[in-house]
Amino acid sequence: MDWRRKDLLGIKDLTADEIRMVLDTAVPMKDILTRTIKKVPTLRGKTVINLFYEPSTRTRTSFELAGKYMSADTINISTSTSSVVKGESLLDTVRTLQAMGSDVVVIRHSAAGAPHFLARHLRAAVINAGDGANEHPTQALLDMFTIREEKGRLEGLTVTIVGDIAHSRVARSNLYGLTKMGAKVRLCGPPTLLPPALETCGAEVYTDLDRALEGADVVMVLRLQLERQQKGLFPGVREYARYWGINRERLKKAAPGVLVMHPGPMNRGVEIADDVADAPNSLVERQVTNGVAVRMALLYLLAGGGGGVEAAH
Ligand code: CP
Repeated sequence: MDWRRKDLLGIKDLTADEIRMVLDTAVPMKDILTRTIKKVPTLRGKTVINLFYEPSTRTRTSFELAGKYMSADTINISTSTSSVVKGESLLDTVRTLQAMGSDVVVIRHSAAGAPHFLARHLRAAVINAGDGANEHPTQALLDMFTIREEKGRLEGLTVTIVGDIAHSRVARSNLYGLTKMGAKVRLCGPPTLLPPALETCGAEVYTDLDRALEGADVVMVLRLQLERQQKGLFPGVREYARYWGINRERLKKAAPGVLVMHPGPMNRGVEIADDVADAPNSLVERQVTNGVAVRMALLYLLAGGGGGVEAAH
């Protein structure tokens, strides 16, 4: 199968075969990360621009490293020190960057659909690094890669996603991806943080965390997005931790060998207890490492010009 897409805008658009292709391509990319000299010439002469209108540690840094490990020129644009503060529009900003010869634009924006808008206007490949509460496709791909690496499969697993589902682009992208790959997805959170009609997307919906955890193979804990919510959606952080926080006692309801994941950044003591975040079955740091491999795979597929995965070595 060949990769035919110009852009990576969301998991909703991808087929199971395309998801599998990204995950399979990330396997040899991860091998590169274990080498003493983490550098291959695959993207020499290509330029990757990271344009983040919202804060990021993991996604922006991993795209930068992914590009550098593949010999691309990577440039980070900080909107606070760019002409965005002088009122330049998103489209004019990106057209300016394209005129300088960028091949890939990685964008994070608070507006859902901003990457899709750019993709319609640019020759460069556009990668969605998170658009509002819509999607965070590269996070879901690295999460699926991490689960598959640890469990050997995605099909047939029960994955419980807990937290602020309404505001979570991570939950949405994982729901689309995991169900396409044959996993069963349970979504759990306070009723005020669960959007309506989730069942129509293939999820089982719970407000009782203990029931949602019963027999789960993977528990994906979401960050409580205090900066996105209007006041009054739940009584307070302490109540949230009591009813929907993941702690060691609660995890006993899950299947033996349950894996715990969190996209980060974590609010320790709120959605996840310290002893769960730091336990041997916590994959939080592995998710970060795998994020570099998966983003290398995506840059390769979108800008590398085919030639098989072997060409990346
Ligand atoms: N998981 C994630 O998107 O983290 P950052 O906000 O640090 O990029």
